[in-house]
Amino acid sequence: LTHERYPVQRLPFSVVSEEDRAAFERMIPGRVIVDPEELEASNVDWLRSVRGCGKVLLRPRTSEEVSHILRHCHERNLAVSTQGGNTGLVGGSVPVFDEIILSTALMNQVISFHDMSGTLVCQAGCVLEELSRHVEERGFIMPLDLGAKGSCHIGGNLATNAGGLRFLRYGSLRGTVLGLEAVLADGTVLNCLMSLRKDNTGYDLKQLFIGSEGTLGVITAVSILCPPKPRAVNVAFLGCPGFAEVLQTFRACRGMLGEILSAFEFMDAACMQLVGSHLRLASPVQESPFYVLVETSGSKAEHDAEKLSSFLEQLLGSGLVTDGTLATDQRKIKALWALRERIAEALSRDGYVYKYDISLPVERLYDLVPDLRARLGPRAKHVVGYGHLGDGNLHLNVTAEAFSAALLGELEPYVYAWTAGQQGSVSAEHGVGFKKRDVLGYSKPPEALRLMQQLKTLLDPKGILNPYKTLPTRA
Ligand code: FAD
Ligand code: MLT
Ligand code: ZN
Repeated sequence: LTHERYPVQRLPFSVVSEEDRAAFERMIPGRVIVDPEELEASNVDWLRSVRGCGKVLLRPRTSEEVSHILRHCHERNLAVSTQGGNTGLVGGSVPVFDEIILSTALMNQVISFHDMSGTLVCQAGCVLEELSRHVEERGFIMPLDLGAKGSCHIGGNLATNAGGLRFLRYGSLRGTVLGLEAVLADGTVLNCLMSLRKDNTGYDLKQLFIGSEGTLGVITAVSILCPPKPRAVNVAFLGCPGFAEVLQTFRACRGMLGEILSAFEFMDAACMQLVGSHLRLASPVQESPFYVLVETSGSKAEHDAEKLSSFLEQLLGSGLVTDGTLATDQRKIKALWALRERIAEALSRDGYVYKYDISLPVERLYDLVPDLRARLGPRAKHVVGYGHLGDGNLHLNVTAEAFSAALLGELEPYVYAWTAGQQGSVSAEHGVGFKKRDVLGYSKPPEALRLMQQLKTLLDPKGILNPYKTLPTRA
């Protein structure tokens, strides 16, 4: 599958031998998986768009075990692909050939939580949703949330620098992560697991690993700052007659809701149709060309609800919004969020998905969607746009009955060139992985790509960590 679609050649790494297996078995007894059936799920990505043929899956429990494993792999020139929840969307989390799969699934212990500062320290394999539960019981929330929360690991979130649904309020992991521990390619344990808000002792090394997608080290533990749980959360779900009205609604939201605005997401009518037909989720508002989800988070329920409902009244009166519904109770809030969060799942049931995740000036955010609908005509099943509008992040997705090289040729490099023309980014939040490594040039100058390659060589001289990923084929 992978090699038919993406031309790539295996690099001269060693092949895992009987002796290697025995060595791993001594390091992590009973946690070396070689049964092909058990390995199947770890060799295919969430989108089922790339497939590797890893023959060994290792499940360490501690950083020390990871260190022993990597030291051995480094000596033996064995390639390693680190895997968290395997929810990545750019083909980065599965082997391309026979790389060893290093899973963080058993590294799932919370190390500490400080309920004065809100600092959580945990192992990298903790599932995001479980961490959310843990801190919520203590009056805090995780600074990030995403549709994959039930499976993705915090280490995977850091490794991809995941954005998600709370970015507008709490910002990037580059700000909320206070420290991390990583094991380098040669087995060195790098302990930068600080819990300080301020620390200017030279280069901020943790930032190198955030967003490095398993190419510079294996993240083994994380220290992250959790905000207090807002006492009042409200969600409005609105129908808008056009994209211009979506933008004006955003402007109005920022002006009228001010500090309590915590999310501003949008989706088009085609998305609503897909969550309806594939997931049986019903729209809570009249059919509209666009839908907007506005979330507020504050400290006083009545104050926020009043602010939001008078805002809604005004919007309805002005014609920016044609219909809307308000949720203040947990159950309805969840149901409204599901309409937006589950679009990825609905799309994956629609056929083969061509997925683009781009940053653009917000006024241009939707231009590509009608443009591509016209260009592709009936060759595409659906062309949809949704995303984190408040962050200038469009998710442009095209579905078709099956993968087709011709359709891919219509989409790329067109989408990337158009994005570059707007000074946008060809990867807003999903990362580069395997699929996008040769399009970085649309968003980064050659000097920057060269420096990326130099850093890679410095940290992983043999290139054993997640080869074929993130860095361009030729830098
Ligand atoms: P994996 O998929 O297992 O791995 C992803 C990459 O990180 C790979 O390159 C892997 O090698 C590397 N990696 C994993 N763990 C480690 C580690 N401990 N150390 C070093 N490298 C590691 N992304 C967003 O940004 N915003 C969203 O809103 C969002 N929503 C999503 C919704 C759905 C339904 C799905 C399926 C995905 C979504 N994603 C989103 C994609 C996102 O990248 C992942 O969900 C998540 O951050 C990856 O975590 P994971 O544990 O599954 O990592
Ligand atoms: C989302 O925002 O829903 C995620 O990034 C997943 C996707 O883009 O499909
Ligand atoms: Zn997203």
